[in-house]
Amino acid sequence: MDSTILGIESSCDDTSAAVIRNGLVLSNIIAGQKVHEAYGGVVPELASRAHQQNIIPVVDQALKQAGVDKKDLSAIAFTRGPGLLGSLLVGTSFAKGLSMALRIPLVEVNHLQAHVLAHFIKEYESDNRQPQFPFLCLLVSGGNSQIILVRHWNDMEVVGQTIDDAAGEAFDKCAKIMGLPYPGGPAVDRLAKEGNPNAFKLNKPHIPDYNYSFSGLKTSFLYLIRDEMKNNPRFIEENKADLCAALQATIIDILMQKLRKAAKDLNIREVAVAGGVSANSGLRKAFADHAEKYHWKIHVPAFSYTTDNAAMVAMSGYFKYMDKDFASMDCVPFARVEI
Ligand code: KG4
Repeated sequence: MDSTILGIESSCDDTSAAVIRNGLVLSNIIAGQKVHEAYGGVVPELASRAHQQNIIPVVDQALKQAGVDKKDLSAIAFTRGPGLLGSLLVGTSFAKGLSMALRIPLVEVNHLQAHVLAHFIKEYESDNRQPQFPFLCLLVSGGNSQIILVRHWNDMEVVGQTIDDAAGEAFDKCAKIMGLPYPGGPAVDRLAKEGNPNAFKLNKPHIPDYNYSFSGLKTSFLYLIRDEMKNNPRFIEENKADLCAALQATIIDILMQKLRKAAKDLNIREVAVAGGVSANSGLRKAFADHAEKYHWKIHVPAFSYTTDNAAMVAMSGYFKYMDKDFASMDCVPFARVEI
């Protein structure tokens, strides 16, 4: 019998709904929220209001595009956390209401696990190569930088993580220093292509184990610019591409060094990357280079599954649905929750 899951994602500033049938994605609709651009970051109150406006049309469009009627759904999967509480509440309440009305199971999904499980989404006319267990997943987004040991879809262990800022935050905060619009990651990526990564030397952290730190890098970037601007007020404009290239290369170096160490120590060559920063062209190239040099089998997501999306939520929900791991109607969203 077919298992058709509607996934709902509303953890931050993207309202998304997707339909997955037996692991195959039928639709994945994402409505971004332009309202935050003027503020240089996500404003939680505005995000939850925009989710309220977007959720019904987004779900409607996801069902239509999938060619699926509500009554054909097997379960509703939703992101329970981590994320912004007001945003999560919109998706959680909507999912509960719909599951109650349709009398079908409700499945709660951990947003971080969903990023990892995006690698199992199947698409029409694609080779649908999936990671083999156990594998390592580098999860890099605006809120997280973690190395996750994935033993099974429901058995994950964080073996390393950032002790302060996330990699995406480092991109965004440094981009803001240079006057680039939010989120700065994509702009840094674009400009870095024309710059020299060795033009400036930035601080790299020295912390133990497989953990990360990015706050020192941000400070070193800020001080470099502050000092240079004293002599040349046009320093940023004249060196933007080189600054972006050096910043990007340093972030990637930090990320890959710990990932290499974890892969070596744990003797794992199956390595994936997930989260918003996995869209970065330099990081993708670093993965390809490591595949060649260290004989890693790499898994890099399609661009549509790098940032927040409901297909990954529906995929996680599908696995849980198959295990009959259902949520109760009194479950509440969590702003903070581990993998
Ligand atoms: O996973 P994600 O969509 O959501 C949150 O963490 O909320 O990740 C967003 C992050 C932002 O920090 C953004 O700047 C970064 O992903 N990002 C990138 C690129 N595209 C998105 N960072 C570097 N290069 C990119 N091409």
